[in-house]
Amino acid sequence: MRNLVNILDFSVSEIDGLISVASDIMDNPEKYADKCRGKIMGALFFEPSTRTRLSFTSAMMSLGGQVLGFDQAASSSVSKGETVSDTIRMVSAYSDIIVMRHPKEGAPIVASRVASVPVINAGDGGHYHPTQTLTDLLTIHKKKGRFDNLTIGICGDLKYGRTVHSLISAMSRYENVKFVLISPDELRIPDYVKEDYLKEGNYVEMTNLEKAIPELDVLYMTRVQAERFESAEEYERLKDSYILNHAKLDFAKSDLSIMHPLPRVNEIDVDVDEDTRAHYFDQAMYGRYIRMALILMLLNTYEIDDKRGMGIEIEGKCCSNPHCISNSERGIKKLFSEGAKCIYCDQ
Ligand code: CP
Repeated sequence: MRNLVNILDFSVSEIDGLISVASDIMDNPEKYADKCRGKIMGALFFEPSTRTRLSFTSAMMSLGGQVLGFDQAASSSVSKGETVSDTIRMVSAYSDIIVMRHPKEGAPIVASRVASVPVINAGDGGHYHPTQTLTDLLTIHKKKGRFDNLTIGICGDLKYGRTVHSLISAMSRYENVKFVLISPDELRIPDYVKEDYLKEGNYVEMTNLEKAIPELDVLYMTRVQAERFESAEEYERLKDSYILNHAKLDFAKSDLSIMHPLPRVNEIDVDVDEDTRAHYFDQAMYGRYIRMALILMLLNTYEIDDKRGMGIEIEGKCCSNPHCISNSERGIKKLFSEGAKCIYCDQ
């Protein structure tokens, strides 16, 4: 059984396959209208969502399937103290595939280890968001026609931005991709992303968006993630660090692709929406089709492919990340890779 917890759970050729199926679905939706007839998707959103939850729902319905679930933890028995593991065991019995979003980093790994159906990570805290990355990759494919030889600017909250971490890990597998990482010092990319996916020469860190813009092929703007901050004052100080507007685009390439996983707050002025280089609403639209392709793939695939390894316990050692699921979920082992990284949150 396959899961999608981290975008690297899929090979480059599997991602090519998903993009190809998504493109075919867009051209020939009627061919796919009954592919999931009789199947049920469990959509478990322990955190708010518009695009991810509704595009997955739309995807399953467009394939002829049905959807059950909840859109906030408060309306599930989690509010009574039920663990992720027990919730997933139950929903495995009621559905054929599970999509989950959870505020704790690594929660989908806990889920995938007890589920009897495929589990899809729809965002785990500030860690990863692999299905957003599939959406981003389909957008880059449609708008740029290639994944190699691109300079990608990623701007905003690189510390807590889970879409950023997944996008970097996915794009780092292609040839001659350069990352320009633009953030305030307080919101720089985490060390585990640098260590695992970036190498000297393929990235630069900057604080000035205007200086970075002229060389970019893709500009991926992100929201400062209010919900991850410990201090409201710190969020208020940093929230408007970058605002992309029409004037800042004067020195950009004519074929720049402006992307944003959305929702936006202030980081892209609405005057940019009419620019032909603004691709973020198309990006959100593509999410429905790539998620249709993903559901089809996981419901038809039965190999075992957990590249993470099972992990080992280290006497006396707990994960130091307070947002890691291993520090809140009752009854799970605290497991580490051979390099002593937490297998749930990578820190
Ligand atoms: N991009 C994204 O994950 O949006 P939602 O939070 O609305 O799902």
